[in-house]
Amino acid sequence: MSQIESSVLPQRPSAVILGAQWGDEGKGKIVDVLSEKFDIVARYAGGHNAGHTVIIDGQKFVLQLIPCGVLRPGCTGVIGNGVVLDPMAFLSEVQKLRAAGVRVDGNLFISNRAQVILPYHRMIELAAETAPGRQTIGTTRRGIGPAYEDKIHRNGLRVVDLLNPSLLRTHIHNACHEKNTIAHALFGTEPLDPKQMYEEYARAAEQIAPFVTDTAYLLNHALTVGQNIMFEGAQGALLDIDHGTYPFVTSSSSTAGGAVTGTGVGPRHAGTVIGVTKAYVTRVGEGPFPTEIEGETADLLRARGMEYGAVTGRPRRCGWLDIPLLRYSNMINSTQWLVVTKMDVLDECDEIPVCTAYEIDGKMTSIIPADIRGFKSIRPVYTRLKGWSCSTEGITEYDQLPKPAQQYLEFLERESGAKIGIVSTGPDRGQTITMPEFEDLFARKG
Ligand code: GDP
Ligand code: IMO
Ligand code: MG
Repeated sequence: MSQIESSVLPQRPSAVILGAQWGDEGKGKIVDVLSEKFDIVARYAGGHNAGHTVIIDGQKFVLQLIPCGVLRPGCTGVIGNGVVLDPMAFLSEVQKLRAAGVRVDGNLFISNRAQVILPYHRMIELAAETAPGRQTIGTTRRGIGPAYEDKIHRNGLRVVDLLNPSLLRTHIHNACHEKNTIAHALFGTEPLDPKQMYEEYARAAEQIAPFVTDTAYLLNHALTVGQNIMFEGAQGALLDIDHGTYPFVTSSSSTAGGAVTGTGVGPRHAGTVIGVTKAYVTRVGEGPFPTEIEGETADLLRARGMEYGAVTGRPRRCGWLDIPLLRYSNMINSTQWLVVTKMDVLDECDEIPVCTAYEIDGKMTSIIPADIRGFKSIRPVYTRLKGWSCSTEGITEYDQLPKPAQQYLEFLERESGAKIGIVSTGPDRGQTITMPEFEDLFARKG
């Protein structure tokens, strides 16, 4: 493949789709809805900590590492260099998709520069999360953080090296020695066996090899021949390692910038930025959540929204929409369009509070604090909007929404500063309202 001319501009718009808050906004559903208009869907960050649910005519898929685009015939899936890949998790997902009749061979590619998660990453994370006196983050315990630590520390294993048996053997031998020693000294953990690990991962590498390529060349070449790319975010902006509610974040760049560093496509070609937000907010794991609610209403949202983690099954914390946080998310991502999911979950609420400002130490502000102490002093200021007390489930036309639901969306659009392109009224692919202006943005594939 020849060197890509950096001056060549894509002929059809690409787009970054990301979560506007703490993950589980419904990205999977929306990527699936939009994938018919994209040639390639590329994951750029995270690993199998993600759980992206897609429901097509009642058939449910939960994708963790593999981009949701593979569910659309004719759409290529790419796992970018910004992802941390657990080979066993990848192979098990591939197997499930094959069993469901989804084509993955020949249209799913893994970056040779992606980092590999190995069993000692999980071992260290589990020990650290449960060690007395350590700050619990409430991670998914998939080894994500320790794998990114090794990447930044420059002693990680990349997919290209996983495929090189002698390098793999040496890497596992040395890393196991080091990690076993540290984990035993710090947490009293039993050591892992490097020989067995090598044998298992060398076998997995053989199965993974056909999927591996230089995806930066693949993606840039696709752009030069007029194809477009959807960059599928995982997690959410407030879980971003730099911009999120640190230290209660994940270990990758889940914001729009991650689409660039996590794939090798330059910022000029990344395209429109689309933020996905629920009509309310949820969070799994520890960390600040200014508009969190408890009690009957939280239970109602959790039950109607089936707010249990797609990966860990943990109940999700629930709360009201937080405009200062959404505006912050829109700012750091330069979000142009919003997708509002789960409108139907609010159907039974008589009144819907929306946080429009914070009171911190007696002063009104909409600036997001950088530290946890700042978050703890937030008192959310609410505007109470009228509920609609009727079903919006499955509505596909904006005009069919009850007036108060339209007013809720208009308020959200005005306050957040980004235009609403899609409203989701149920988990299924078809339960979707697309605004005409947004529909015209992405021409259908020819
Ligand atoms: P993701 O991680 O952002 O892809 O989101 P998850 O799949 O983890 O969680 C979103 C959940 O909400 C899934 O169970 C979806 O099937 C479901 N969902 C998505 N959109 C809607 C919607 O508009 N209404 C309802 N009721 N459920 C939805
Ligand atoms: P999707 O893509 C919601 C959360 C974990 C924990 C923190 C760190 O489905 O939206 P990690 O295992 O990444 O080190 O955990 O981040 N978290 C998510 N929460 N959705 C996700 O992904 C998440 N991925 C990680 O619960 O609080
Ligand atoms: Mg999820």
